[in-house]
Amino acid sequence: MTKKNDKWGINTRLAHSGNNPRDFFGFVNPPVVHGSTVLYPDAGTMAARGQKYTYGTRGTPTTDALEAAIDELEGSAGTILVPSGLAAVTVPLLAFASAGDHVLIVDSVYHPTRHFADNMLKRLGIDVEYYAPHVGAGIKALLRPNTKIVFTESPASNTFEMQDIPAIAKVARAAGAVVMMDNTWATPLYFKPLDHGVDISIHAATKYPAGHSDVLLGTVSANEACWPRLREAFDALGCCAAPDDVYQVLRGLRTMGVRLEHHSKSALDIARWLEGQPGVARVLHPALPSHPDHALWKRDFSGSSGVFSIVLAGGGQKQAHAFLDALKIFGLGYSWGGFESLAVPVFLGDRTVSTRYEGPLIRLQIGLEDVADIKADLTAGLAAAASA
Ligand SMILES: Cc1ncc(COP(=O)(O)O)c(C=O)c1O
Repeated sequence: MTKKNDKWGINTRLAHSGNNPRDFFGFVNPPVVHGSTVLYPDAGTMAARGQKYTYGTRGTPTTDALEAAIDELEGSAGTILVPSGLAAVTVPLLAFASAGDHVLIVDSVYHPTRHFADNMLKRLGIDVEYYAPHVGAGIKALLRPNTKIVFTESPASNTFEMQDIPAIAKVARAAGAVVMMDNTWATPLYFKPLDHGVDISIHAATKYPAGHSDVLLGTVSANEACWPRLREAFDALGCCAAPDDVYQVLRGLRTMGVRLEHHSKSALDIARWLEGQPGVARVLHPALPSHPDHALWKRDFSGSSGVFSIVLAGGGQKQAHAFLDALKIFGLGYSWGGFESLAVPVFLGDRTVSTRYEGPLIRLQIGLEDVADIKADLTAGLAAAASA
């Protein structure tokens, strides 16, 4: 940051964090450094690796700028940038789990996280166990002497249960486990994991930080205690992010506050409205007072983003497909956090802790389009589901 000021509001910090324009002749943005080789002035400097930049995988002025901006938002000791949000999940798991360890993962986790755990981690001799999202301090009963990681995600992927992160973190850390959180939904603007006892905060920067459905990137931020091991694993794995993608995410960060505010406001308006629409049994959005975990969300989070799910009132795949096929503004596609609205049918076949729903679940990402147009689109979808 140029002239650090702790009293600055979030949009001021988003606009000015990361690089110092004076470092590059006053240009507002940092250069996009495409580089593998870095030259040394002489053999002695080379032998000692005695300069700031040593090789492309180890950092550039572009990665430094984004890492510094993320550290400032997260309050972390260090951040690594990896090529996707999924890599932001897998790299810290690989960094902290060894053969013979036990790892606890929330049952309502992002499905590819589960796939990685069930395949790679188990193959490496790591014992993976899933726990119920509402476990809270009850996680104590599941901790074993060899539990090394407790992996959380709140709200839950697709079903939006809230976890009591401070309670879980307190018990898990007291037992010596590293607590990780996939905080992609809230972004560090609406929840700062490290302030609530989490050791490692994970983000798919692909979503709100990038914001335009055209970049894949992940960030992993650690507290002082966990930073050296995380950085060591990152260096060992060589999974560094590409310079153009890093730059795009830094660019996205500048407007993330205003975009998020719009996503949040529109999503809440639409979620409230959907609660009164025929054909909708339930709206799963933690910022709605009707949500069973609303009190937990209100206690810990300072805002809500633009993704939530609806439960259709009865029916099955036929009704879900009729709903989705009638949508004209919503695209049918994975991911979220971009400027455009998206809808996906929710798959829950991987869950072991199951909740009964009245009908099919549809996840909605509310984009930056006009709310009246989005509502009209959803009305058409609900009408199509009703007559399917
Ligand atoms: C909660 C969560 N974490 C991680 C990811 C992975 O991000 P990416 O698509 O960049 O791999 C996603 C993607 O949908 C996600 O929803």
